[in-house]
Parts: sequence; structure tokens; C-alpha cells
Amino acid sequence: MANELVAIPTETVYGLAANALNEKAVQKIFEAKGRPRFNPLIVHIYDLAQLNGLACYIPEKAVRLAKKFWPGPLTLILPKSSKVPEIITAGKPTVGIRMPNHPLTLELLKGLPFPVAAPSANPFTRVSPTSADHVAGYFGDRIPAILDGGPCEVGLESTIVGFDGEAPIVYRKGGISVEAIEAVVGKVQMETKNNKAPIAPGMLLKHYSPRTPLIVSNNIKKTLKDHSSKKIGVLTFSAMAVPEATVLKVLSPKASLEEAAKRLFATLHELDEAGLDLIIAERFPEEGLGRSINDRLKRAQQ
Ligand code: TXA
Ligand code: MG
Repeated sequence: MANELVAIPTETVYGLAANALNEKAVQKIFEAKGRPRFNPLIVHIYDLAQLNGLACYIPEKAVRLAKKFWPGPLTLILPKSSKVPEIITAGKPTVGIRMPNHPLTLELLKGLPFPVAAPSANPFTRVSPTSADHVAGYFGDRIPAILDGGPCEVGLESTIVGFDGEAPIVYRKGGISVEAIEAVVGKVQMETKNNKAPIAPGMLLKHYSPRTPLIVSNNIKKTLKDHSSKKIGVLTFSAMAVPEATVLKVLSPKASLEEAAKRLFATLHELDEAGLDLIIAERFPEEGLGRSINDRLKRAQQ
């Protein structure tokens, strides 16, 4: 894969990968996704020792987080070394780095003489893929290979943590809860501005969108009443009787946020295929992975 794109499984979502040190290969990622050039990519590694070649400064709290959560759904934003091409970082002085936790992809990374850049394998603004089938549905024959590693275990993208000096800032809520990050490094700041030029440029408000309109609701019954003549798909956290719904999807009958996170994107893909007029999604408890799920639902609503 020195010059070509390969879709790779990770524990979070599938990635569209290319040789991070080859600008032409990286350019193909932006073309395939229709992704704006100002949005930087994450570099994927398999060994902590690779950090030193890619970052020119590593805060002590970054080391603690990497040791605790890698391989896993954590991306660290660090000052970049001169080895990292500008196209990866969109001209920024920092680079996003992550060690994914998937046996196939770790094996692949170990066998390659270069690190791999990979955004989620979905066209710009669309729902992220959590299975090889989702990737095939989006890109089909347009990419030479899709490595099928089964359904993603975590199902939400990595949590992104950057630093203001030594102080950690969460840029994207993801597969590791903010509470779990804080248990390692103490209180963190949240990058919450949903403006047009967020620090993590991928956090544009419209994102993760099914084509079917989606509303996030605090009161499913009332929202259903307001839209009563439509074909409606209802997405709930735990078991709920909703006879008015055309389709009902319960993400976790036993009310586990981890299970709900794992199934969220796959369920949005299914609802989007169901020929509905509207999807009504229940707002999740604002704790643990519920915060990451609410973030994705809010963006899907735009
Ligand atoms: O779980 C994940 O992180 C997946 C898998 C494939 O690893 N990847 C992923 O990549 O979600 P992507 O490109 O869809 O999202 C990366 C996010 C974007 O919001 C981007 O703006 C941000 O990371 N990012 C990357 N490099 C950055 C940097 N140097 N500074 C700030 N934000 C950065
Ligand atoms: Mg993405």
C-alpha cells in the first residue's frame, strides 16, 4: 500500500488509509472522501517509540494517557516533527496520532515501513462506517482493497486530546469517556465552540448525517405526536414501547452506554436504508459515553 488506499478496520470505525509519508497517496484520501483540505488527518502507529519521530514535544500528561489507553480510542494532538508532511496536518504545527486496537491493523502497521494516515472511511459529512459492508456501500470499486476485520468493537471515533502547554483539552468526545481521561490527568478543558473554524476542523457542526432528517428529542411521545402523519423511525437508548413508530431500534435493552455506542452508527445506517420520512432519536444521559453519543446525534440532526 505504498501509493494506494486501503480501508482498514479499527476498534472505533473503519479508516481509509494511505502511506502518511507519501503526499500523492494522502491526496487520494482527500479526493475519495470529498474532504476539504483544511481538515487534518490522524497518523496511526503500532509502537509508542514511533511518537518520537512524529512529534517534536510530548507533554508528560500525553505520555500518561498514551500508556493508559493505547492501543485504544485515543488520539493525541502534539507539536509535529518536520518529518510529517503538511498535507497531513493541513498546514498546522500539530499532528494527530493514535495507536488503534485491532489485531489485523496492528499486524498491518507492524509490517509497513511507514506510518499510516487514516480518516474515517465515509464520504465527507456522512455517517461513519463500523463494518466492511458500510465501507463497500460508500466506496465500492473506487478503492483497491477493504480489509474486513468484522464489526467495530467501540463504534465511536477516538476521543481527541490536545494540549495548551501542559494542560489537556478534549477536542472531540469519543470512545473513551471524559471521566476516564480525567481519572488519569485530572480536570480537562473542553473545546466546545461549534464555530466555523474549530481547532479540530473536523468538528464542523454538520457531520455524521443520515440522508433521512433526524431530530433529537427529550420526549419521544411528544415529538412523535408533532409528526404523526409521517413514516418515523425511533431510536432509543433502552427498552421502550413505541407502537406509533414505523420502525423501532433499541440500542441497548440492558441500558449499557458501551453497547449503545457500539451499535449507534450501524443502526443509523439501517434506519437510513428503511425509506423513512424522519428519524427521532432519544437524547442520552449526559455522562460517560452518553456524552459522546449525544455529540454525534446533535451533529446528525443538522
Ligand atoms: O477513531 C478515529 O479517530 C478514526 C479511526 C479511523 O482512527 N479516525 C477518524 O478520523 O475519526 P477523522 O479524520 O474522521 O477525524 C479526525 C479528526 C478531525 O476532526 C480532525 O479535524 C482532527 O481529528 N484532527 C486531526 N489532526 C488534527 C490536528 N493536528 N489538530 C486538531 N485536530 C486534528
Ligand atoms: Mg470522520
